[in-house]
Amino acid sequence: MKVLIVGSGGREHAIAYCVAKSDKVEKIYCTPGNAGIAEYAECAPIGAMEFDKITAFAKEKEIDLVIVGMDDPLVGGLVDELEAAGVRTFGPRKNAAILEGSKAFSKDLMKKYNIPTAAYENFTDPDQAIAYLETAKFPIVLKADGLALGKGVLICNTLEEAKEGVRTIMLDKKFGSAGNEMVIEEFMTGREVSVLSFVDGNTIKTMTSAQDHKRAGDGDTGLNTGGMGTFSPSPFYTKEVEDFCNKYIYQATVDAMKAEGRPFKGVIFFGLMLTEDGPKVLEYNARFGDPEAQVVLPRMKNDMIEVVEACIDGTLDQVDLQFEDNAAVCVVLASDGYPVAYDKEFPISGLEEFKKHEGYYCFHAGTKFDGDKIVTNGGRVLGVTAKGKDLKEARANAYAATEWVQFDNKYMRHDIGKAIDEA
Ligand code: AMP
Ligand code: GLY
Repeated sequence: MKVLIVGSGGREHAIAYCVAKSDKVEKIYCTPGNAGIAEYAECAPIGAMEFDKITAFAKEKEIDLVIVGMDDPLVGGLVDELEAAGVRTFGPRKNAAILEGSKAFSKDLMKKYNIPTAAYENFTDPDQAIAYLETAKFPIVLKADGLALGKGVLICNTLEEAKEGVRTIMLDKKFGSAGNEMVIEEFMTGREVSVLSFVDGNTIKTMTSAQDHKRAGDGDTGLNTGGMGTFSPSPFYTKEVEDFCNKYIYQATVDAMKAEGRPFKGVIFFGLMLTEDGPKVLEYNARFGDPEAQVVLPRMKNDMIEVVEACIDGTLDQVDLQFEDNAAVCVVLASDGYPVAYDKEFPISGLEEFKKHEGYYCFHAGTKFDGDKIVTNGGRVLGVTAKGKDLKEARANAYAATEWVQFDNKYMRHDIGKAIDEA
């Protein structure tokens, strides 16, 4: 079959790696892709929000299956457009992708269906938000309702900071129309765990757990980023935690979406916080996490196409989803200055080393070809992933492999997986 992947980051590279392993696949395309994805896929320079062009491309190339990796096109309704044109597509329709696209929607859903999450209020009027803050407890969390590249969450320690936050989100519109509505919620503490899952509208099958490192600097300092590294599985995601989430969170979310007339097919990513009062949902995403996908997908034993097709066909209950009994760590190599300002177009060397070592992967996030050379083309440049028999070995392997790759202004965190030592 011919498969088209929509997206251009490390997540889509990890998806392409899995798709390429399937016996069912004869040809892979990617829009727009990057220099790493180009190893598996023919990349076409079509932006992920150019729905008409993507649909025309899918028809022209007689694509049998489209996999949409990114949040913006999912929330914008790319799946609906492709389906309307008769193209088989993996991912939630627009009316289900709202689970990620509107935090106000997802909070109301959780409240209505008793899914554990932080206490909150939604606001469309900045004056009412400020009035609410006058009597609130601090710290408190402000969230722009819509998509904001993972940056629309402000943790405020004082009333002054929070008032400033309301102005930033709702009046200055720092995150654009994502800030037309806002969630104000209780500040929670605890370890964070990412659990990705496959969903077919009725059945949900969770993947192995992972943990991200969102801040730019060592020791969780500095600005929030798209994610600087991950490990999988999380040692804090115990059987007890999993049982609780199975009982109160996962199936409950799928059933709630169905009951609302918004059946969800695709990947639900549960951002969980393990609080003293039990696991609670921090956020939902309607897609694989990035860089979570880079440690989860290489450990998946199943043929990805089989799982994806079962989600589309509503037969996921017949799939035995299995992961290797090992561990993986991903260290993101970024351009110094990310997530604010950074230079691009530096040549990258050492990529061929990964071909020589089994269990090592270099997923490209921001790269492109300059002639036949591969150069940097983004803030997050590469995700260096290694497996090991356990988390400690995987971490040592991943950090060793970060030395294989060189480019000017290479920056990484040195403490990805530090929590492993505390487990
Ligand atoms: P979100 O995009 O909703 O996952 O938020 C981004 C990050 O902000 C999360 O990964 C948490 O680290 C933090 N965060 C979000 N909501 C809360 C909360 N209610 N309490 C504490 N931290 C939070
Ligand atoms: N790593 C977090 C995300 O993909 O949203």
